[in-house]
Amino acid sequence: MSNTSIVCIEDIERLAKSQLSKKTRDYYADGANNQYTLEENRSAFDRLRIRPRFLRDVSVRDMTVTILGQKINFPIGASPSAYHRLAHPDGEIATAKAVSSMGSIMILSTSSSYALEDVIKVVPNSTLWFQLYVFNNRQVTKMLIQRAERCGFKALVLTVDTPISGFQYNFAQNGLDMSNEKMGNFEGIDLNKAGLNYSEEDTSKRHLASFYDTSLTWDAISWIRTVTSLPVVVKGILTGEDAEMAIKYGASAIMVSNHGGRQLDGVPATVDVLPEVVKKVNGRCEVYLDSGVRTGTDVLKAIALGAKAVFIGRPVLWGLTYNGEDGVKQVLKILKNELDLAMALSGCKTLKDIETTPSLVVKDNY
Ligand code: FNR
Repeated sequence: MSNTSIVCIEDIERLAKSQLSKKTRDYYADGANNQYTLEENRSAFDRLRIRPRFLRDVSVRDMTVTILGQKINFPIGASPSAYHRLAHPDGEIATAKAVSSMGSIMILSTSSSYALEDVIKVVPNSTLWFQLYVFNNRQVTKMLIQRAERCGFKALVLTVDTPISGFQYNFAQNGLDMSNEKMGNFEGIDLNKAGLNYSEEDTSKRHLASFYDTSLTWDAISWIRTVTSLPVVVKGILTGEDAEMAIKYGASAIMVSNHGGRQLDGVPATVDVLPEVVKKVNGRCEVYLDSGVRTGTDVLKAIALGAKAVFIGRPVLWGLTYNGEDGVKQVLKILKNELDLAMALSGCKTLKDIETTPSLVVKDNY
């Protein structure tokens, strides 16, 4: 397929899948267990209907938004995902350049292939957040947090839905080929000495997840706030109750996420729980959403239901696989253009219009 025949994210996904080894393809694509949640993430968006409004002068449209005080060009950022070098030799360096050149925001995973210092170095003036897994060894965790703060990351994203790794059938059977892979943030650290008891078997079958602190409680947010002044975004919230806890313990923002359907199979789609979370939060902090976003109309739907911005996981990996930095840019451009189109066709000049037009998005009960 030539470049000009790519018109949507699905085209890039198809091409990327044809380029990857089976192990990596499955690792990127799969959801947990029977993949009910993975599928639900898509079908929940499809069940929502947009009630367009007309004759509202949409000649000039503005997609900019301010997220935790940083202005970005459009409300679609890159979710954190592990090991970008499995997709492309330039890994997170390429992803960061692409996201930065588009004026959006990237969240770098704890399990990135490239070290956080090397990634931020190539995009010094852009908005990068660092996703954090808390390890049994708090010293290692603290060191990671402080490295991220020192070199200019603007927020920490604490992932709370992964006390242990979810179970994916292909991954359990075949593992992942990590022979050419690096664990960027841990290079030069003697993991065994640090109490992480790392071995080859760990990277191919269980990777870093075996060292997460499974005893973590909400106090972790308070602890993080004692070792850094960065704002803490809590990623993985799926209930109003936990949104309340996150705020109580000092979260600066909440990301409604089910990890792209990779953790507990059977949890609801994020766009279905978004209204519950937004209602509970009641304007006390920003709310974002990821999991299943694949089109501009998905973005419009999430914003209409109260998300300030959305993030995409797999589409970034597909773009990176397909064509490195340019591929990631292409993914973001497609989604940005689709959102612009959806705004024009539904009578919204700004994201504020999307948020405030009554019943712009409703459940499919026509
Ligand atoms: C992820 N995700 C993830 N999340 C996180 O907090 N830390 C991580 O290291 C990873 N790693 C990771 C690897 C891969 C291969 C995937 C696909 C996902 C979850 C990610 O941040 C995000 O929540 C989902 O990917 C969003 O769903 P979609 O957009 O992929 O449907």
